[in-house]
Amino acid sequence: MVKRGVGSVIRSSVILVALATFGAPTAEAQLNRSNCADCHFANPYTEPAQAHLEEWSRSPHGRNIVGCEQCHGGNPDTFESLQAHRDVLGSLNPSSAVHRTQLPSTCGACHIGPYVAFQSSQHFQLLGEGDQRVPTCSTCHGSVGAHLLSPVGLERQCASCHGPNGVAPRPGRAAGARLLLEGVAEVRDSLEAAESLIDRIRDPVRRAELEAAAQQAEVPVIQARQAGHRFVFDQLEERLATARARTAELLAQLVNPSP
Ligand code: HEC
Ligand code: HEC
Ligand code: HEC
Ligand code: HEC
Ligand code: HEC
Repeated sequence: MVKRGVGSVIRSSVILVALATFGAPTAEAQLNRSNCADCHFANPYTEPAQAHLEEWSRSPHGRNIVGCEQCHGGNPDTFESLQAHRDVLGSLNPSSAVHRTQLPSTCGACHIGPYVAFQSSQHFQLLGEGDQRVPTCSTCHGSVGAHLLSPVGLERQCASCHGPNGVAPRPGRAAGARLLLEGVAEVRDSLEAAESLIDRIRDPVRRAELEAAAQQAEVPVIQARQAGHRFVFDQLEERLATARARTAELLAQLVNPSP
């Protein structure tokens, strides 16, 4: 588990000294660590990106051992700076894996659902043409993918460009996005309620059946969130309707158990 705080600066320096003395870490130690992160946490002169490091360590990526190299490239198996940074390019370089135009494919390597939907949006098309006005993955999720927007947050994000004073005024787009994300949250809440009822069922066979039904109801919720990345919400609405129907059916079964 890679979890870091301010204290890791000291721990990382210790690792550096130990490495110099004892040679390469074992394969197991490497699995659980990112050399990139260790060195960056240990070097206060990379200060400008300190907030980025902290954000990474708290993000789902830091917590799930998605290391720096997964977005930036480079060689995570060495503490030798030149080797480590071999193909690491600054984010302003158009060939960099973290340049705004490259992010969809960099992030999309792991997040295929959102990537596929995003590719059929006008945002994606314009991004590829070098249009500076359109959003990329980090616009809504932050540079380390640490944020998920709330419905109101999303409305604000759309409105920052599609509001009356934005670069592409489109009245209705922002409010529509909020309403749909509220729909996603509402179905998720009902599903959570159903899941906590299911947890209390004693009969293991019946519990397993209902757990499977809950999973079936969750699939279209995941698909809806991914389909939202087209930013035209017809598919999202359709998936959400399916999720709603399955969840309602599940709740009905929980309230009136059939024999
Ligand atoms: C031995 C310590 C060390 C290791 C290991 C290391 N870095 Fe760095 N990195 C630095 C320092 C120091 C800087 C800033 C000074 C400089 O530009 O050399 C830096 C700069 C960077 C930059 C900014 C580049 C730019 O052009 O602005 C990125 C991105 C980066 N590192 C990513 C990584 C990744 C990804 C890895 C692992 C594959 C990694 N680093 C491994 C010490 C390290
Ligand atoms: C999920 C993808 C992702 C991960 C993981 C990630 N970064 Fe970044 N990083 C970015 C993006 C995107 C930028 C571009 C600047 C921005 O949008 O703020 C960036 C910018 C930077 C910069 C500033 C220089 C530049 O090129 O703009 C440094 C230094 C850096 N990252 C180092 C790291 C280190 C060290 C780690 C691991 C602790 C890490 N990053 C993990 C995506 C990531
Ligand atoms: C090497 C694979 C990989 C890359 C590259 C990657 N991610 Fe992730 N991402 C993960 C994993 C693993 C998780 C945590 C498990 C999960 O929630 O699916 C995650 C979680 C997330 C989450 C939270 C999902 C949730 O439901 O809470 C978001 C948002 C996200 N990533 C966005 C991004 C963005 C934006 C980028 C590019 C800047 C990116 N990811 C790059 C693997 C990756
Ligand atoms: C205009 C804003 C916006 C942009 C741009 C955007 N997203 Fe999202 N993303 C969202 C919203 C809204 C959600 C749903 C959040 C929720 O359900 O709470 C989401 C959810 C996600 C999730 C979690 C759901 C899942 O399917 O696992 C991931 C991962 C993700 N986005 C990745 C990406 C990637 C990769 C890109 C770039 C190709 C991207 N996003 C671009 C707004 C955006
Ligand atoms: C960073 C700015 C930015 C953000 C944020 C943004 N857009 Fe866009 N969007 C644009 C631009 C620029 C265009 C191209 C418009 C044009 O010039 O015709 C566009 C085009 C579109 C289009 C295609 C044209 C149309 O109206 O049919 C849709 C749909 C759209 N955006 C929906 C959204 C939604 C929904 C959100 C929020 C989830 C959002 N956008 C967030 C900048 C943005």
